[in-house]
Parts: sequence; structure tokens; C-alpha cells
Amino acid sequence: MVLGYADPPYPGLAHLYKDQPDFAGEVDHVKLIARLETEFDGWVLHTASTAISTLASLIPPRARWGAWVKSFAAFKKGVRPAYAWEPVIFKPMRKMSEDYSGRFVQRDWIEEPMTMRRGFTGAKPEAVCHWAFEIVGATPEDELIDLFPGSGAVTRAWRTWRPQLSFQWEFPASSDPSIPCVSSQDSDGLTSGECISERS
Ligand SMILES: C[S@@+](CC[C@H](N)C(=O)[O-])C[C@H]1O[C@@H](n2cnc3c(N)ncnc32)[C@H](O)[C@@H]1O
Repeated sequence: MVLGYADPPYPGLAHLYKDQPDFAGEVDHVKLIARLETEFDGWVLHTASTAISTLASLIPPRARWGAWVKSFAAFKKGVRPAYAWEPVIFKPMRKMSEDYSGRFVQRDWIEEPMTMRRGFTGAKPEAVCHWAFEIVGATPEDELIDLFPGSGAVTRAWRTWRPQLSFQWEFPASSDPSIPCVSSQDSDGLTSGECISERS
């Protein structure tokens, strides 16, 4: 299956890339979302919280909104509260039934600081890309198409992504099977478990 990964200049901010060779003005997000829907099995679209009202009506029903919460961001003088999170819109390519991390139920948000000293505005951290691959249900056998490569960070993250798929659901005989227990084996070979009361 093919994953489309779109990290375009955010609406109204294309000028940040005016010196880049691929600069072509503002990206037409109507066409971009239509392309993601027609050409790919699943997709990821990064954007800014300031673009939510522009994009909301364009996002198809089966897509979801995730969040990259920046534990450190570019804090601008006089801008309070600081803009310190970004929406990550995603359309899963398959159902995410596994916990890739093997440690906890995967969330629709991630906390990660912005990248620093990469020399490229908007370069995405490896951990954010890995999280995005996981919430769309990708596997390393899938193909990734990085539509806005920039520094190449997304494609590099795809190469370093090695999900742990040792996770399994267990249903102890004495318990209610609608309340599954999670057990996993981490890289040290230790097994841990927890019961949860709901699944998303
Ligand atoms: C947010 S950056 C991508 C960052 C990249 N994902 C990374 O992690 O380094 C957006 C990229 O789109 C390019 N770009 C700018 N305007 C564009 C346009 N109208 N169409 C296509 N690409 C454009 C920019 O030059 C930049 O490389």
C-alpha cells in the first residue's frame, strides 16, 4: 500500500520558502487534499493551528485530527499564548490494531520538541514522523511518497522506522473479555501488562 505524506508550506506561510528551488507560491489545499484522497491508500497532512478554520470543511469524514504538541517551540516575543502545537491530519491506510511501541496504547497526539539546528524551516523531528507512520497503520513494507521533501527528514525517518510488533492481546479466563489485558515484551525481554477499560 502507498502512504502519501504531505508537509506543505502551511496556509498563508508559503513566503517562508520563497528562496527554495521548489517554491511555487501558496499551496492549493483543495487540490492537495483531493490528490491525497485519490492517489494514496492513507495519508498524513501537517498544518498549523491557525489553518484549522480554512481546512476543516475540506477534510473527509474518515480522516482524523492528531496533534504534535511541542515541548519546545519557537517562542516569539509578544505572541502569547505561544503557538506550541500543530494539527496532524491523518487518514489511516489500515486499522491500527497493534501497539507499535509495545508499551502503551498509541495516542492521537505526540509531545516532542521542535527540531533545532537543522537549518531548514519546518523540518520534522524523526519521532513525529515515526508516530505519524504508526497512527496511519503503516508497515515497513508499504511505500512512502514524501510530497514536500524539504530537508528530506520524512524520508530519512521512514528508513529508520522499525516498529516493534511483539504486542499481543490477552484475555485471562476469569476476566470480562470486553476488557482486554495488554501484554508486551520490550527490548530487554521483560513482559509487562495492564488492563484497560476502553478501546478507541
Ligand atoms: C514544511 S516544508 C517541508 C519540510 C520537510 N517535511 C522536512 O521535514 O524537512 C515545505 C516544503 O515545500 C516546498 N514548497 C514551497 N512552496 C511550494 C509549492 N507551492 N509547491 C510545492 N512545494 C513547495 C518548500 O520549499 C519546502 O521544501
